[in-house]
Amino acid sequence: MAVCFTCRTALRRQIEGLRKLRQRRLHSTNKDSARTSRVERPQEQIPTPNNVPTLNFWQRLGPLTRAAQAYARAQRKRPYVTQVCTSLFIYLCSDISAQSMGGRDYDPTRTLRALLIGSISSIPSYHWFVWLSESFNYRSRLLSLATKVVVNQVCFTPVFNTYFFGMQALLSGATLAETWERITKTVPVSCLNSCKLWPAVTAFSFAFLPLEYRPVFGGVIAVGWQTYLSYLNRLAEGSIAARGEALEEPEMAKPLSAGLARLSSPKMAGPYLGARRSLAAALRPFSRSGSQLRFNNNNHVPRRPASTSSSSSASRAPSTARNVLVAGLLATVGGVAYYYATDTRASIHQWLVPRLLRVIFPDAEDAHHAGTAALKTLYSLGLHPRERPSALEDGTDGAGAGGGNPLAVTVFGTTLANPIGISAGLDKDAEIPDPLFALGAGVVEVGGCTPLPQEGNPRPRVFRIPAVDGLVNRYGLNSRGADAMAARLRERLRTLARTLSGGGGGGGLTEQEVLDGALGEDVPVGSLRPGRLLCVQIAKNKKTDERDLDAVIRDHVYCVQRLAPYADVLVVNVSSPNTPGLRDLQAAEPLARLLGAVVDEAKKTPRKVKPRVMVKVSPDEDDDTQMEGVVRAVWTSGVDGVIVGNTTKRRTGLVKEGVRLTAKEQKALLEEGGFSGPAMFERTLSLVGRYRKMLDRYSLGTPGVDDAFPPQKVIFATGGITTGEQALKVLNAGASVAMVYTGLVYGGSGTITRIKKEMKEKLAIKES
Ligand SMILES: Cc1cc2nc3c(=O)[nH]c(=O)nc-3n(C[C@H](O)[C@H](O)[C@H](O)COP(=O)(O)O)c2cc1C
Repeated sequence: MAVCFTCRTALRRQIEGLRKLRQRRLHSTNKDSARTSRVERPQEQIPTPNNVPTLNFWQRLGPLTRAAQAYARAQRKRPYVTQVCTSLFIYLCSDISAQSMGGRDYDPTRTLRALLIGSISSIPSYHWFVWLSESFNYRSRLLSLATKVVVNQVCFTPVFNTYFFGMQALLSGATLAETWERITKTVPVSCLNSCKLWPAVTAFSFAFLPLEYRPVFGGVIAVGWQTYLSYLNRLAEGSIAARGEALEEPEMAKPLSAGLARLSSPKMAGPYLGARRSLAAALRPFSRSGSQLRFNNNNHVPRRPASTSSSSSASRAPSTARNVLVAGLLATVGGVAYYYATDTRASIHQWLVPRLLRVIFPDAEDAHHAGTAALKTLYSLGLHPRERPSALEDGTDGAGAGGGNPLAVTVFGTTLANPIGISAGLDKDAEIPDPLFALGAGVVEVGGCTPLPQEGNPRPRVFRIPAVDGLVNRYGLNSRGADAMAARLRERLRTLARTLSGGGGGGGLTEQEVLDGALGEDVPVGSLRPGRLLCVQIAKNKKTDERDLDAVIRDHVYCVQRLAPYADVLVVNVSSPNTPGLRDLQAAEPLARLLGAVVDEAKKTPRKVKPRVMVKVSPDEDDDTQMEGVVRAVWTSGVDGVIVGNTTKRRTGLVKEGVRLTAKEQKALLEEGGFSGPAMFERTLSLVGRYRKMLDRYSLGTPGVDDAFPPQKVIFATGGITTGEQALKVLNAGASVAMVYTGLVYGGSGTITRIKKEMKEKLAIKES
């Protein structure tokens, strides 16, 4: 009886222990361990001698542990840089070990080739593994791992091997035909053989390793793998060299097979065994000159393919099967390239494209037009960069505004998927609102649009100051006019309406049905997508005299009549520094009248939900009296909010101490026009805080304003916002949306995604 009791107690303890272990494992697989490790969890219990957990052995390896932790920190902080460095290191080690085993002189060109191949593939590979770790997470841990392994083998391995062998061939001077031949002969065999090792490696790293250590682990295995292949290579070379002469192809099989056969001993059994075939196929370069077998100084291996059993059987395979395989490979390569290039997270969008545009287009305006045209064309082909739902937002496009999305914010009754906007001027004629939404913005402001078309100022009128990531522009509100913009926005709406089925089930919706909200309450009529707002900015024509207020009002009313049906928010621009006299309209009395007229006209918009009205004010009119005048006009006119900031005419405090400008940059900085860029951020932040206080104080302190509990006026912030931290700061200071322009010019099309990611990380750290 006592024995039975003791056994049961011991068993119960075992089960308890196993349960805890399982829970811990589940936690580390289902939530990606990278994410959990990023956020240090607070201790739930005060540690006492009895509840201090013992450290795992790998956490007690002194300098090794510290080095691994430092690596993990670097990986979290600068994943791309760390990734490239890791790859370079791994490929360097592989190459040195490979070359030292060849028994020949060291050849630096081989090393360079290996480093180039490694560095190019590092970031796409990293993205692939991040994506894989975030995908296919089912309840069953086994199923998750199995799916990841299979997906990796089916998709990644063929693509990577194609790239690897293709690049090896190309970089060693092979022609396209030879490269193709090498790919078709090496990739199928190497893919088959990789099944003997890499599934186990992949499964192990996904099961037990946090994301940040996976590249190192994979890399160590890769070095071992390549060293092994080199060892096989040396055996093959040794056998051939011993014969002391070039051999005809059929004879080649013998020494090579003899050398390889030694590796087929039972001791070498296991995953490595099959790799001998891949070696023979994979590491040999091909001769351009026919059947003669010669040594290749670069690679120290025969130039003709050896007739190993697998390669010969591959060549005997029916050509249709091979074609299918090749087509499949090509499709996979194309698919991965497409996936990478169209993702806003891809590093090329941040590091390559903006720099390329600067090099190719010395004139910043040309670069602007080229960027806009490219986005437009790519969007029409479905090849545009986009923020994929998996990148950030918790759910599908826009629907992530619901519970669980920490960035969701409610503005004008719409729950926005995120509070980041794209500021006016980037899409002056509403040519690319949809591609801009696809970049992940919660708000897109198109315009400024004038009633009649106008050229703006003479060129050149946009100047770069890369040392401070800044711009000076004096476009002067170049616009194709309200009619042209209205036609474009109307066509956009109609195109969408046609694709939707109406109440009867077919034939599409009418324009008016869409305008009256047939898309659903959560789909604003301007943006035409859930959780997003489209702002349309309007301004007076240059030739309209700012002292003639009636004429100014007429300009604005015309724009409202044309554009209001297609806008969620109309923005009145009285802050551009490049239209003479425009900023004078910020004085309280004229501003109140102008805004009042716009509000009245907007209320007449022929649709169910009327557009809101905001006014965009300058950062330079910032003394208390001027700001109070704006606040008074805002409250008395009934506009719904203020966009705080624009470019600045001031040139003080824009260049930090220690930053040196080239002569060209100094000249650019002194050009007439408005400056924009990160240097403006502190001013924007202070201005937002002051406007927030003044707007709130006015509503509380002025009896009779609106009604008993007037809704708070909404603030959007613009000016120098380029990081998640800055966005959070302006939001905490009282803004509902943080808008970006110059940040996109220097940071590329992934800027919005990056800012949101940084915000999420900051918020997660705060919560923990
Ligand atoms: C080239 C360029 C053109 C702009 N055009 C407009 C415009 O038409 N209307 C407007 O209100 N603001 C315009 N802006 C100002 C931006 O919308 C934004 O408010 C300003 O650049 C500050 O933000 P940033 O530092 O993020 O660029 C323009 C800015 C730039 C750089």
